[in-house]
Amino acid sequence: MEPLAPRTRLAAADIVIESHLDGAEGRSLAEDVLDGLTRPFKELPPKHFYDARGAQLFDQICELPEYYPTRCERAILSERAEELAELTGAVELVELGSGTAAKTRVLLDALSAAGTLERYVPVDVTESMVRECAESLTSEYPGLRVHGVIGDFERHLEHVPPADGPRIVAFLGGTIGNFPPGSRRRFLREISRLLGPEDHLLMGTDLVKDPRVLEAAYDDSQGVTAEFNRNVLVVLNRELQADFDPEDFDHVALFDTEHEWIEMRLRARREVSAVVRGLDLPVHFDEGEELRTEISAKFTPERVEGDLAAAGLELVDWLPDPEGLFAMTLSRRSPR
Ligand code: SAH
Ligand code: AVI
Repeated sequence: MEPLAPRTRLAAADIVIESHLDGAEGRSLAEDVLDGLTRPFKELPPKHFYDARGAQLFDQICELPEYYPTRCERAILSERAEELAELTGAVELVELGSGTAAKTRVLLDALSAAGTLERYVPVDVTESMVRECAESLTSEYPGLRVHGVIGDFERHLEHVPPADGPRIVAFLGGTIGNFPPGSRRRFLREISRLLGPEDHLLMGTDLVKDPRVLEAAYDDSQGVTAEFNRNVLVVLNRELQADFDPEDFDHVALFDTEHEWIEMRLRARREVSAVVRGLDLPVHFDEGEELRTEISAKFTPERVEGDLAAAGLELVDWLPDPEGLFAMTLSRRSPR
């Protein structure tokens, strides 16, 4: 028998799960904290929101009346999935930042109905999500193979297995907006390297709109987004033995009109002196000092097309939702 590659586990006949993370180190949490909490303007990357609790909170956010992106993207997929299946002929769906793959099922249904679907490849930093979604999808779609990649899509894209036919690489939810502009284009270039001549990128982007609608989507009346935001401190306490009291921080969400992105921050309600014991790092916040935890860029059609072009991708189709709040794009590698 062939020996298994390190960290590869065969969970069931139809499931392969590979992990490229090794606790906090694999997620680069220590590095990000050392770097981000010692800057004059403190900042942490958003991927650290998503431990099991953070992932659950994100799912609750998707159900909130104020958080329209999920509903809009689902509406687009429901309307256009059949056409996408026909146009791409995809035998495989690779999904970056797959989460619970809730909306993905609309696409899987269409590919399955078209008779082409063979394999689903979820890539996510949250181990429990990849494992749970592999289990449920293989039972929901008989014959489907799932190759799950637990990893950081910024560092582990090379571990996406090669395909046996045309594939769709899906990047849903507007997660591309969580990159600052330069890294966004660099990341899209990495994605374009994954695409063969028959493959397509299907990407969701949230659109520029009335700042009041945007700010409400990121500061909901039930306080779920506030808890999601503070959860990053819970992650630091657990993973790096820090002693933050999340209640010492207010949740802040504001639309930066110059950059056209939402910023989420945590603002110290009082002076805070904490210690990240695992790194032997004292961290001080003045009263009112902020930690930026996320940007969520909003797009115009020109911005999306410009970013795609800069990454060597050409637009095949622009798929907006009926209210014009959110859009998906189908693109492919530009001929050189
Ligand atoms: N695609 C889903 C989930 C979006 S939430 C949807 O549209 O609803 C963002 C997802 O990306 C989370 O599941 C999170 O764990 C994952 N994620 C965030 N940063 C990541 C990174 N650097 N590498 C891999 N996954 C990441
Ligand atoms: C995952 N990502 C696209 C979400 C967003 O809207 O930027 C994360 C989120 N942050 C607050 N609410 C949802």
